[in-house]
Amino acid sequence: MPGDNANKALIDSLNGLLADYFALYIKTKNYHWHVAGPQFRDLHLLFDEQATELFALTDIVAERVRKNGGATLTSIGAIGAKASVKDDDRAKVDAMDMVKALRDDNAALVETIRKVKAAATEAGDNATEGAADDWTDQAQQRVWFLSQILA
Ligand SMILES: [Fe+2]
Repeated sequence: MPGDNANKALIDSLNGLLADYFALYIKTKNYHWHVAGPQFRDLHLLFDEQATELFALTDIVAERVRKNGGATLTSIGAIGAKASVKDDDRAKVDAMDMVKALRDDNAALVETIRKVKAAATEAGDNATEGAADDWTDQAQQRVWFLSQILA
C-alpha cells in the first residue's frame, strides 16, 4: 500500500502544477491582449486557444487533489506562492519574445507533468497517472505550435 508520504508528495506536486497552469493561463492571456505586429491576428487567436486549454485543465487538476483527500489552492496569493512560471509585467513585449517565453514555459510544464506522473505512480493514483499523459500531449502540442512560428 502506498503510504501517507507518497500521498502528500502527490498532492504537493499537483498543487504546483495547478499553480503553473493558472500562472501560464494569465501570462498567455496577457500576451493575447497585448500582442502587436504583422502576425497580430494569428498570435492573438493562438494565444487565446492556448489560454482556454490551460484554464480548462485547472479544474481537472484541482479536483485530482480533492479526490486524493488534499486541500487545493484557494486564492491568487496561493497561486503566486506555488507557481514556478514567471510573471511578465512589462508593458511592451516583442511578439516573438512572447512566443519564445510561452514555448519555454510550456516546455518546462512538460517536465513538471513528468514529476506529477512519477508522484502519482508512487502514490498508486492510476487516474492521475493516466491523465498526465494527456496533459503532456497537450503541453507538447502547445510547444510545437509555438516552436513552428519561430522556425
Ligand atoms: Fe479575447
